[in-house]
Amino acid sequence: MNFICAANWKMNLSFKEAKAFLEDLKKNSVLAEHSKSVKNQINLKSSICIFPQAVHASLFQDVKNINWGAQDFYFENQGAFTGQNSPDIFKELGANMMLIGHSERRTLFHESNSDISKKIKKCFELNLIPMLCVGETFEQRKSNQTLEVIKSQLKGALSELNISDSDLDDTNKGFTKVEKDVFSKIIVAYEPVWAIGTGLTALPVDVKIVHDFIKNLVGDNVHVLYGGSVKPENAKELSMILSVNGFLIGGASLKLDSFLSIYNNSVKD
Ligand code: PGA
Repeated sequence: MNFICAANWKMNLSFKEAKAFLEDLKKNSVLAEHSKSVKNQINLKSSICIFPQAVHASLFQDVKNINWGAQDFYFENQGAFTGQNSPDIFKELGANMMLIGHSERRTLFHESNSDISKKIKKCFELNLIPMLCVGETFEQRKSNQTLEVIKSQLKGALSELNISDSDLDDTNKGFTKVEKDVFSKIIVAYEPVWAIGTGLTALPVDVKIVHDFIKNLVGDNVHVLYGGSVKPENAKELSMILSVNGFLIGGASLKLDSFLSIYNNSVKD
């Protein structure tokens, strides 16, 4: 399975800076390293992915071997939705992957599981790969709710997909075959909310517990990325966890050098 390094630029980098980053990245041999041994339904262009601001999207138009897409978008293609970004236009510009349900969207912009699920549905319609973010808050972790929260976010992501009740799991056993089939077309990013942008990283032992739990629920073939203060210094240790199939990187993705050293320091199977 490809080890994916995904950059979440958030609301950072000027147009000029984004352009320079991309020009330098295009010259890097990392884009040629691409194993084809993916057993799920995800069709990657390389191991690198970037989620730029929507206003940067046109810069990516002629980029062939980088997975990229929106940090957020609306679940309709067009219409009277002032201020929203059309997924269809991202697609038109060559995007292939969309970030969905980042904790900043869930908390600051009150995004619900239903919104998230509609966005996943839209991705499937447009043949875009959804990268779904899940993660617990500090309070939830302290009160031992982590796994329950993760499961309900994963479940919630399916809520608008018209899966019949008999094909939905309502026990603690794990997801049904139909649910797992849906997840084989999704990349999951586990990001403990308390580790995002704080410099705090979850302990490898805790990351392993959550990643194993997610894989157990949705299927071993699903890419599960870790995010939350990933940097060149901790990339190796975290990447050694077998159920970690990549990273979603915020702050340390803003400079090409540190982004690439995370990729280079990671242990790929
Ligand atoms: P961080 O952000 O690497 O700056 O913690 C990760 C993210 O929010 O995706």
